[in-house]
Amino acid sequence: MRLKLTVPNLLLTALTVALAGVANADIDPERQAELLYLLKHDCGSCHGMRLEGGLGPALKPERFRQWDTKTLAAAILYGRPGTPMPPWQPFITEPEAYWLAGQLKKGIRP
Ligand code: HEC
Repeated sequence: MRLKLTVPNLLLTALTVALAGVANADIDPERQAELLYLLKHDCGSCHGMRLEGGLGPALKPERFRQWDTKTLAAAILYGRPGTPMPPWQPFITEPEAYWLAGQLKKGIRP
């Protein structure tokens, strides 16, 4: 009886730990390359190939210094309703949006 209760609990704990690990995991290098391609070609179509601005504003680290990563990731995931900035949630995951936000804060030049 005791064992029956303990095993599922252990499994649940293991699963929770595994899922938390996935959420925090670094983005694998192949996906990083895809995200940078997206940044250049998709984001770049509005924000400029070098992210220096176009239809959308420049995506420069100076701009984002005061932004926390969460705010920046939310702008990417949910877009700006009522503007041409689309939500990217259908195409990238939350950890990927955080990763991209981190790249933008660092000042990536795709
Ligand atoms: C169809 C055009 C378009 C595409 C594609 C696009 N954006 Fe935007 N984006 C905009 C516009 C326009 C704004 C300004 C919205 C506003 O007026 O608040 C904006 C705003 C932003 C902002 C807020 C910037 C600020 O200074 O307030 C971020 C961050 C951003 N975009 C990131 C991205 C990223 C990352 C991608 C690619 C994954 C992307 N955008 C793709 C048009 C676009």
